[in-house]
Amino acid sequence: MKGIRIVATGKALPKKSVSNEELSSIVETSDEWIVTRTGIHSRFQCEEESCLTLAVEAARAAIESAGISKEEIGLILAASTTSDYAFPSTACMVQQQLGISEEVTAFDISAACTGFLFGLGTARALLPQLPKRYALLVGAEQLSRIIDYTDRSTCILFGDGAGAVIVESADHEFYQKSWSRGDVSALSCHGPGLGEQHIRMNGSEVFRFAVSAMEQGITEVLQDRNLTMEDIDLVVCHQANARIIGHVQRKFRGYEDKFFINIDSYANTSAASIPLALDDLNKAGRLKGGSRIICVGFGAGLTWSSALIEL
Ligand code: UT7
Repeated sequence: MKGIRIVATGKALPKKSVSNEELSSIVETSDEWIVTRTGIHSRFQCEEESCLTLAVEAARAAIESAGISKEEIGLILAASTTSDYAFPSTACMVQQQLGISEEVTAFDISAACTGFLFGLGTARALLPQLPKRYALLVGAEQLSRIIDYTDRSTCILFGDGAGAVIVESADHEFYQKSWSRGDVSALSCHGPGLGEQHIRMNGSEVFRFAVSAMEQGITEVLQDRNLTMEDIDLVVCHQANARIIGHVQRKFRGYEDKFFINIDSYANTSAASIPLALDDLNKAGRLKGGSRIICVGFGAGLTWSSALIEL
C-alpha cells in the first residue's frame, strides 16, 4: 500500500491565554507545582471561539498553505472529543463552512488524544480509493467545555486549540502500529444525557500507561522497519505532560534532542496536540523533505498509536 505525504499544516488558537497564576485563583494550586509536575506554563481557552470555529480556521490555514483548490479535497476527517454538535459531524460542518462541494467523504474520528493519528492511518487507507487527490485532517478541541474547574488534578492540564494537515497518497514510507485496551475507568467523560460531562482521570495510572505505551510504540515501529533512532530525525509525542515525555526520552538515551516539546504554552490539547506540534515544526522549518519522523500518541480507551512518516 502507498504511504502518505504531508503537504501542508495549519493551526488555530483562541485569543485568550490562561496562566498558571490565574488558575491558582480558582483552585488550590501554584505555578511552581504545575510547572514542575507538567511543564505547562499557560493554555488557551475559548471565549468567542468554539471547537468548530477553531477547526475551520486551522483547516483554512492548511489549505492556503498547501496552495490547493478546495475542489481537490476528497476526504475530510475531524478528530475531536468536544465537537459543537453530537451530530452532524465536525467534518461535515467544516465542509459546509469552507464551501467544499459534495463529492467528498466526511466524518469524525472518536479516539480522544489518539484520534489524529488514527485519522492519518484512515486517510492513508482511503485516499487511493477516492476520486480526488487530497485529504484534509483536523484535530480540534474545546476541552474547557468538559473541564471540572474544581478538580485541580485535571483542570490545570488541558487547553483548547486545533491543528490541521493536508495529506496525499504518495510513495513515501508510512508505517503505523496501533493498540486498544478497552479500558473505561482510567480516563473518561460521559456523553450527552448521561449526567455531568467532565473529564475523570486516574492521573498516576494514565501517567504510567503513557510512558510504557509511547516507549512500545517507538520501539516496535523501529524494530519492524529495521531502523534505529539514528535513522529518525524527530519524535513528536502527544503533549500530555513534559514529565511523561521526559521519561520516554530517558528510554532512548543519546537521542533526547530528537523529541519535540511544545506543551509549555498549549497544555494538553488532546486530538489537536500532534497537528499543533507539526504546524509549529513546519513553521520553524524543521519538517524537511526526505527526513523521517515518528508521531506517537495515547489516549482514553486506552488507545495508543505510533506512525513512522517519511516527509
Ligand atoms: O491525554 C492524556 C490525559 N492525561 C494524562 O496524560 C495525565 C497523566 N498524568 C499526569 O500528568 C499526572 O499524574 C498529573 C499531572 C495529573 C498529576 O501529577 P502527579 O505528579 O502524578 O501527582 P499525584 O496525582 O501523584 O499527586 C501528588 C500530590 C497530591 O497531594 P497529596 O495526596 O500527596 O497530598 C495531589 O493532591 O499533588 C496534589 N495535586 C496538586 N497539588 C497542587 C494534584 N494536582 C495538584 C495541583 N496543584 N494542580
